Amino acid sequence: MNKVDLSVSVGPLKLRNPILLASGTVGYGNEMSEHIDLNKIGGIVTKSLSLKPRKGNPPQRIVETPAGMLNAIGLANVGVEVFLKEKIPFLKKFDVPLICNIAASTIEEYIECTKILTEERSISAFEINVSCPNVKEGGLQFGNDISAVGKITAKVKAVTNKPLIIKLSPNVSYISDFAKVVKDEGGDAVSAINTLVGTSFNIFTRRPKIYNVTGGLSGPAIKPVALAKVLEINQRVPIPVIGIGGIMNWQDVIEFMIAGSSAIQLGTVNFINPKASEEILKGLEEYCIKYNVKKISELTGSLKLK
Ligand SMILES: Cc1cc2nc3c(=O)[nH]c(=O)nc-3n(C[C@H](O)[C@H](O)[C@H](O)COP(=O)(O)O)c2cc1C
Repeated sequence: MNKVDLSVSVGPLKLRNPILLASGTVGYGNEMSEHIDLNKIGGIVTKSLSLKPRKGNPPQRIVETPAGMLNAIGLANVGVEVFLKEKIPFLKKFDVPLICNIAASTIEEYIECTKILTEERSISAFEINVSCPNVKEGGLQFGNDISAVGKITAKVKAVTNKPLIIKLSPNVSYISDFAKVVKDEGGDAVSAINTLVGTSFNIFTRRPKIYNVTGGLSGPAIKPVALAKVLEINQRVPIPVIGIGGIMNWQDVIEFMIAGSSAIQLGTVNFINPKASEEILKGLEEYCIKYNVKKISELTGSLKLK
């Protein structure tokens, strides 16, 4: 039995611990299950699912950068139908909350996807991606538009009883304005942040290293930005936040929780060390014991500014 209570709540969503695996970095869980015991983590967020399968962008789709990586996958995914038929049965073997991430090119597509998936009992919650920087339609077009984010929140909420999390873009002036509209329109939580728009060139060919020219920057390089965005939301809007961005170890998790995160997601680190989630859980437990933190949820928003 755990000596400390690692359980957390993200609005109505109850998790055994605050460690979730981020969308797009663990596919649909299959490969990850060879490295870690999925029954131990707080939850899995699926790759963004769209109504129809998507091939994504042509290669090169990924490039390494100092302290991070750029990706322009372009939301390649199997689509909701194949997901339900071929991916869910595998995930059902585990006792792990499943959060379905949905991406779409139109508001109607978000609604349709949610309607189809909400029938599936093994899905615990939805995370709506309104912030992908790597697609022409949808993506940042929505993520930068407050009224679109409000509309998507309200319309998706109307077709599901499951907890609704909106994944926000950092590529805006005030992320808290977006969190506020999510709260006002009935969203249960926000995830912050998705990737930052970046690029990289080959100086010999003078061509972009990524086919799409720009990509989404992730990894330790974005951690200070992500932390500042989580803090901004926490100071201005009473809505649960799932912190994401450059988390590499348990110390980073504590920092994100202190800044106001109820839970966190691990993304890029899964490519570097697929066992990171289990190692981080061990580190969190030891920290809590050493510093007499009885419930890890006490840490959320405990930053001392004076
Ligand atoms: C290769 C790759 C693919 C991603 N695909 C998605 C996606 O399909 N949907 C989504 O909402 N976020 C996607 N993301 C963003 C991550 O979920 C996360 O928000 C971001 O990488 C920041 O966290 P990190 O620095 O820990 O990686 C992707 C990130 C990477 C690196």
